[in-house]
Amino acid sequence: MTKTATFIPVAGGKGGVGKSLFTANLALALAELHHDTVVVDLDLGGSNLHSFLGLSNQFPGIGDFLKARTAELENFLVPTEMPTLKFLPGDGRTPFMANIPTAQKLRLLSHLNRIPADYILLDLGSGSSFNTLDFFGISKTGFVVTTFEHPSLMNVLSFLKNFLYRTIERIVGRENHQVRITLQEIYKQPMTGPPVTAQYIQDQIAALNPELGEQVKKICSYYRPRFIFNRGEHPDTLRILQPLDKSLREIVSLQADYFGFIFEDPAVRESVRRGVPLVTAYRDSVASQSVLRVADRVARIWGRPIENSAELLTTDTIRFHKSVADRQQGSITSFRR
Ligand SMILES: Nc1ncnc2c1ncn2[C@@H]1O[C@H](COP(=O)(O)OP(=O)(O)OP(=O)(O)O)[C@@H](O)[C@H]1O
Ligand SMILES: [Mg+2]
Repeated sequence: MTKTATFIPVAGGKGGVGKSLFTANLALALAELHHDTVVVDLDLGGSNLHSFLGLSNQFPGIGDFLKARTAELENFLVPTEMPTLKFLPGDGRTPFMANIPTAQKLRLLSHLNRIPADYILLDLGSGSSFNTLDFFGISKTGFVVTTFEHPSLMNVLSFLKNFLYRTIERIVGRENHQVRITLQEIYKQPMTGPPVTAQYIQDQIAALNPELGEQVKKICSYYRPRFIFNRGEHPDTLRILQPLDKSLREIVSLQADYFGFIFEDPAVRESVRRGVPLVTAYRDSVASQSVLRVADRVARIWGRPIENSAELLTTDTIRFHKSVADRQQGSITSFRR
């Protein structure tokens, strides 16, 4: 019997926040824990995942799969030095690859679903294109990566809001003409109108079609994204969790889990410069250890609901920070710029 893989998409509204770095190293770490892992470069307009894995850019990938109509996606998997890790390259050469049409996306999704593995990690591009939103929706608990900077946090909120709108539109479908018109009107509302939250949209749909409203509500509570905070300098920065959670509930009408904290670390830039993977070449660095902690958490609890993730992440980050400080015997100022 073939394995049913756990899909873990990795998104985040903003570019350059560390999605590819995190995805590549999480994949390496899960593979090290003896899980059959496939890591996929789905940033089709700007594929660069190979460099975070320490691989060259010479292999055919998703672009070539899509061009060859009868190809099998599995044949494009690239073996790595670890028997438990395979890499599926994206496409950095073909123009407009980021905008693959729906039929191609569906073919790709159906082939992805047939790949036997324990985990299939998807490195997504930045922004909120329909394809990125749809690949994110492959799992109810995808990762969103953000730094602590305001624009990055705002972009994640906006990404999740777009994701919910996209999901709502799918449920509404083409035949619910009146609801579609209402949605179009809501999108056009001026800034001075009522705040357009996912809750507001749900209410408007429910007023026109209670059954559909109920369906929309159910599906919106189904998704529960998991946050990775990257480039953190001190556990204190996690003070933003409370206001962030409030904004998520009020603006996006979504609940989230706060899953990982990765420290800012010069070893990251060094590993990128040398084209070697962080978790293998800079094993003891704080960033590497942060990713390994997330991998351990994924392997232990991924499929289970998490009750109080804000508290758990804060406690764990403080403990980790202290253990690094103890190890470095006072040289803790290296966490700060
Ligand atoms: N924890 C960290 N400490 C120090 N530097 C980091 C850290 N994480 C990421 N960086 C820096 O940020 C750069 C961008 O990371 P990465 O390419 O993974 O971002 P991305 O979100 O995938 O970007 P894009 O949206 O363009 O695909 C890295 O090359 C590295 O220099
Ligand atoms: Mg990237």
